[in-house]
Amino acid sequence: MAEKKIIDMTRGSKTIWFNKNHPAVVYCDKRREDFELYFGKARTSLHTCHVNPDIQCDFTALPFPDNTFSLVVFDPPHLTKAKETAWLVKKYGKLDDNWRQMLHDGFAEGMRVLKPDGVLIFKWSEYDIPAGEVWKAIGRKPLFGHHSGKKSSTFWAAFMKEE
Ligand SMILES: C[S@@+](CC[C@H](N)C(=O)[O-])C[C@H]1O[C@@H](n2cnc3c(N)ncnc32)[C@H](O)[C@@H]1O
Repeated sequence: MAEKKIIDMTRGSKTIWFNKNHPAVVYCDKRREDFELYFGKARTSLHTCHVNPDIQCDFTALPFPDNTFSLVVFDPPHLTKAKETAWLVKKYGKLDDNWRQMLHDGFAEGMRVLKPDGVLIFKWSEYDIPAGEVWKAIGRKPLFGHHSGKKSSTFWAAFMKEE
């Protein structure tokens, strides 16, 4: 673990990563599964998704000591309304009514395992919930951030562990 300076708390299918097997990263997720779905009118376009974390764990109880990582990546589920069978839900997960507490506890865990002066990158999609509601739930606002994506609904935000 000594060489692992970065934790991805919510690996999913590593869509956000350029190097999907970066040696400095420990990729975590609460689930381990492979699934596939056919798209298109004729259902001929096969999409596959593999969620295969290095460590299967809950981001509200990470199995690492305090002050371990220099960089934490947190990209939690953001959907509340989509059907369980929808591809996006299968790929990204879905929030339940307890989402405020879950995001609060996950963010607190990310900060706990972060080294002093380390940075946490929080990715949020404002598909169902505005980012401002999330900052209220976690009790902090990012230092800075930026909207991106086709509809500008994705928000990338940076936090630092300032002591
Ligand atoms: C938005 S997706 C992450 C997408 C990923 N960053 C990518 O690039 O593909 C959110 C992920 O968080 C995981 N997740 C949801 N609740 C979790 C929890 N309590 N602990 C750990 N992982 C969780 C889901 O299984 C899902 O893979």
